[in-house]
Amino acid sequence: MKLAVIGLGAIAPFFLDAIERDPSLTLAAVCDLDDKKLAPWRERGLAVFTSHQELLDAGLAEGVIVTLPNDLHADVACAAMEHGVAVCCEKPMTITAADAQRVIETSRLTESVLFTAFHRRYNRNLLDLAAKLPADRTRIARVVHRYHENIEEHTGGDQWYLDVSRCGGGCVIDNGPNALDAVRHLIGDLRLIDATIGDVRSGTEFYAELDLVSTNGVQARVELDWALPTGEMKDIVVELRDGTVLTADLLDGYDAFKSSLAHEYSGILDGFKAAIAEGREYRDPGPDLVALVEEAYRVARRKETRLRMTAKHESVAKVVKSLFHARDDRGMTLSPWASRCVQAGEVHELVTTTDRPSVEGDRIDHVGFLGFAEFKNATVVERGDGVWLRGRRIGTVAGFDECHAPNHYNILIDVPLLFTASDVNLGIGAEVIFKEASR
Ligand SMILES: NC(=O)c1ccc[n+]([C@@H]2O[C@H](COP(=O)([O-])OP(=O)(O)OC[C@H]3O[C@@H](n4cnc5c(N)ncnc54)[C@H](O)[C@@H]3O)[C@@H](O)[C@H]2O)c1
Repeated sequence: MKLAVIGLGAIAPFFLDAIERDPSLTLAAVCDLDDKKLAPWRERGLAVFTSHQELLDAGLAEGVIVTLPNDLHADVACAAMEHGVAVCCEKPMTITAADAQRVIETSRLTESVLFTAFHRRYNRNLLDLAAKLPADRTRIARVVHRYHENIEEHTGGDQWYLDVSRCGGGCVIDNGPNALDAVRHLIGDLRLIDATIGDVRSGTEFYAELDLVSTNGVQARVELDWALPTGEMKDIVVELRDGTVLTADLLDGYDAFKSSLAHEYSGILDGFKAAIAEGREYRDPGPDLVALVEEAYRVARRKETRLRMTAKHESVAKVVKSLFHARDDRGMTLSPWASRCVQAGEVHELVTTTDRPSVEGDRIDHVGFLGFAEFKNATVVERGDGVWLRGRRIGTVAGFDECHAPNHYNILIDVPLLFTASDVNLGIGAEVIFKEASR
């Protein structure tokens, strides 16, 4: 089969080398906007193009490898299929699910194969792990996949990775598809349960945690990190219901940087050839992974939480009156507010409770009184804030009772065992510190 490679950046050499190793494949042409990248190929007598459209019009290739920035995948893949050319497209297949549908529809109408390149599914250590798993996947309790790297070490120097409009996001859309595909390879189709992003820089997340479940009930967590100081960590832990733990380090045995990619990219080309042989029957997982990534962004961007990011500075409240009594019939009520703005100089009452109030109107009977404290700086006190005393976390803000408002709030603090000022030496002038949940 004659192939052309469109996009001669950081990842293209792994395809070019894999093509060279495979006697059934011939490189017929290459394409890149940057003429400097074409020069060595021109010197070797290969057909070179700066426009993918001209390459396709030349009719030199039966298949193309698309190794372009993410925002170009959909249009170039569709153009190739409209020329009757099979497409092997780097992940993510597209940025949006709508574009993925457009690509799949074009594949159907033109009867051309669209194959997404997920390289980790061909990783030898992943395949060894898969071979050790029980055939009955319901015997698996949980899979955790860590995909950690420093993004700067993986790019070709172009900054499109850090441009949300071109990349589609950060580590979720970049490493998510390969990581999710690897987990899917082990436990089957996945549904998203929860997603949290963090370390967001100019709209691009450098950290994310995705929680998923497979159709047969196996829990999975995918942890994506773009911000390792250096190096990579790509491993998978599988916990069976009987307590057995199986692991795979995807990079074990591949010490040199990116050295596992040689066998993985040969695997991609074998997969591409198999998909072409299957023809119309071939169903590419690309759109499912695009949809999972889109859903992860939808869930994560709606959340107030951003991991690894400080959203407010600590707030110090100085005790102006200690209280020493506890009660088990106090009858406070959880107010509807999850947060309250507090001005510098305001005094509020600090109350511990073991009642775990969570829903507006919950009654709070079991309380221990700590005292009244003056906030030294303006802040927003929120449910989930950590409450600290002398370097130790003593509880978590559960919410507010407003029976004394507008004079002051009772700030309710969840604790495992009730205590009052005398139990923790909370004397006049002691400083209670409120920190945001993630700190
Ligand atoms: N770098 C990696 O480790 C890696 C790993 C797996 C997958 N991928 C995927 O591979 C794709 C390419 O990534 P990369 O890291 O090689 O990017 P890159 O920026 O290094 O390379 C992209 C190349 O495309 C060329 N280009 C841009 N617009 C063009 C256009 N309109 N026509 C022709 N050429 C054009 C650029 O000149 C550049 O040479 C991305 O989808 C990425 O997600 C990259």
